[in-house]
Amino acid sequence: MNLFSQLAAEPTHEEIFPGTVLMRGLALPQDAEFFASVGVILSAAPLHPATTPSGLPMSVMVSDCGTPEAFRRRWDPQNPSVRKLWPAMPRVLSDFAIRCAVRSGFPHFRPDTCHINRYQAGTKLGIHQDRHEFDLHQPIVSISLGLECIFLLGGFQRTDKTKHILLEHGDVIVWGGPSRMRFHGVQPLKPDHHPLTGPYRYNLTFRKVA
Ligand code: SIN
Ligand code: FE2
Repeated sequence: MNLFSQLAAEPTHEEIFPGTVLMRGLALPQDAEFFASVGVILSAAPLHPATTPSGLPMSVMVSDCGTPEAFRRRWDPQNPSVRKLWPAMPRVLSDFAIRCAVRSGFPHFRPDTCHINRYQAGTKLGIHQDRHEFDLHQPIVSISLGLECIFLLGGFQRTDKTKHILLEHGDVIVWGGPSRMRFHGVQPLKPDHHPLTGPYRYNLTFRKVA
């Protein structure tokens, strides 16, 4: 590898908006380790369809680890598989999420939950705000593994114009501070195959919930 191809593999640090930082490739050196941790979480807390606030099943499959309190109330409280205790958050994931937050200007972030979304071809996530966490001064740290997607990042009204951001395997995006309440979502995934995750995209969001 020459200097320039090495540089191409370096993580980036792009400030998309004040408080929103995209670090492409930051998770790549530990991708297999992180994906193995996802497997450990999912064997204790199997994926299940997310449900809308009105109880309708969504196409995105979800699971969680860490502190169950706030999310248990927010996400499908009827679902018995969610009611049992979540597994602990693997240390390798929480340590990495803290490093991501520090690099993005949020040195005090200590996540207590990791929410997992699994997408496949056609799965999308509608535009929404993350507003069920207790302390909105804490950022959201988001890690993408597997298939790429177009992440939509908007303003503070649902109808505001969105930026289209390509998120690929190993990319990390953090939004907090003045960006914390930005609307965001994911466009329907295109069918593809990834060597680590097969036909899926996994997104891990780390939060301070309680
Ligand atoms: C989310 O907003 O909960 C997840 C975003 C993503 O999958 O990138
Ligand atoms: Fe979200």
